[in-house]
Amino acid sequence: MDKHKTATRATTSVVTTPDLGSIYINVQPWVLTISDNLHATFSFDCEGRTLGCFLDGGNYRFGLSGDILLKIAASPPAPKLRRLLSDAEAARLRATVYARVVRIVAGITHALSDDVRGWLALILEWDEDRALVNRRMFQSTYLPISIVPPDQYRALVLQMTEGCSWNRCTFCSFYRDRRFRIKSPAVLQHHIQQVKALLGRGIGMRRSIFLGDANALIVPQQRLRELLQVVRDELPAQDMYAFLDIFGAEQKTTDEYAELRTYGVRRVYIGLESGDEAVFNLLNKPGSPQQCVTTIERIKAAGIQVGIILLAGVGGASLAPQHVAQSLAALAAMGLDAGDLVYISPLIVSDDSGYAHRAHELGIVPLSPSALDSQMDDLKAGARTATQGHPRVALYHIEEWLY
Ligand SMILES: C[S@@+](CC[C@H](N)C(=O)[O-])C[C@H]1O[C@@H](n2cnc3c(N)ncnc32)[C@H](O)[C@@H]1O
Ligand code: SF4
Repeated sequence: MDKHKTATRATTSVVTTPDLGSIYINVQPWVLTISDNLHATFSFDCEGRTLGCFLDGGNYRFGLSGDILLKIAASPPAPKLRRLLSDAEAARLRATVYARVVRIVAGITHALSDDVRGWLALILEWDEDRALVNRRMFQSTYLPISIVPPDQYRALVLQMTEGCSWNRCTFCSFYRDRRFRIKSPAVLQHHIQQVKALLGRGIGMRRSIFLGDANALIVPQQRLRELLQVVRDELPAQDMYAFLDIFGAEQKTTDEYAELRTYGVRRVYIGLESGDEAVFNLLNKPGSPQQCVTTIERIKAAGIQVGIILLAGVGGASLAPQHVAQSLAALAAMGLDAGDLVYISPLIVSDDSGYAHRAHELGIVPLSPSALDSQMDDLKAGARTATQGHPRVALYHIEEWLY
């Protein structure tokens, strides 16, 4: 493939050989997929980096970080299996994929166009050494990317800030490994240049920019302007998205939000978690459900969309009715519309979390798996009714995230 070009339209070629059977090569503008007799598929970005594969019933997603997430569908009511591979398993899988692709490429290369042959040659440069170099480059570019919202899984993440300025919610351990820090414009610029070098042309498949980490827009407006300008200069014309906690969101005026919009900020994601005061108070979150509702009005008045996240299962069995009722009431009061989103995130509780201790002290019994499923259904259906079907309502599985 020409180093400066990517495919501009989708094409599929099928090559059939006695040894290999039918091999399908699908080329999209930024992704090439090889299907081995429609039994196994392997996809790659335009630097040749593996993005994912379906193999022997497993769906593997390969992160830029070098981590690999395995998902196996199960028949309900059994839960879907999701787990990160160990380093040894990841190395074995990379070796398997590499060997399969080497064999396929050797058997079909004669029948392909120069462009596709060029892309396949890039894929074959990714042996184990290259994968390890990429992992080290990732680690010198980013701190772990703990989470982004599901609609931003294909975003380019920039750690404009690191960590969470609050970092004390009882249920959330995403940023416990780091102190909150705001990068200077020069450090941010260097970070973006490292990100560009890491991704190479693979940056083309990143559809937006997600500003990390937990509440990037909490930065005071004057400093924020300078930082957003650095992003604009380095990556013009990309829409920007970010998380913001309720208290941080409350700090800005409508005019300040409107200014963020001019820099390309399109949506902010806020964890309301619960509209019920008693449930909310278990979480040690800054702000309150009522503050969240009034702040959302201000953000939306500035033309910025919102993504509201609710936790399912929080408050256990005893607080379930009020958690659902008050959360839906809060959503109804927000005046959400078509560009907004509502996410329902099933609560994952670790035994040593502040939430687990508090719930134990208060005698809160967790929901059974079937009660949790039914609460998720109630929240989903109720959210659609409460918002008159305008925003998209979807599940948010924090264990499905990988960057
Ligand atoms: C980065 S966090 C929150 C963003 C922002 N700092 C805030 O507080 O609104 C993103 C979301 O992940 C979800 N989350 C965090 N920890 C979780 C857990 N243990 N189980 C399920 N969801 C969790 C919460 O809904 C949270 O709002
Ligand atoms: S939920 Fe948000 S504010 Fe609370 S600790 Fe996690 S990232 Fe920080």
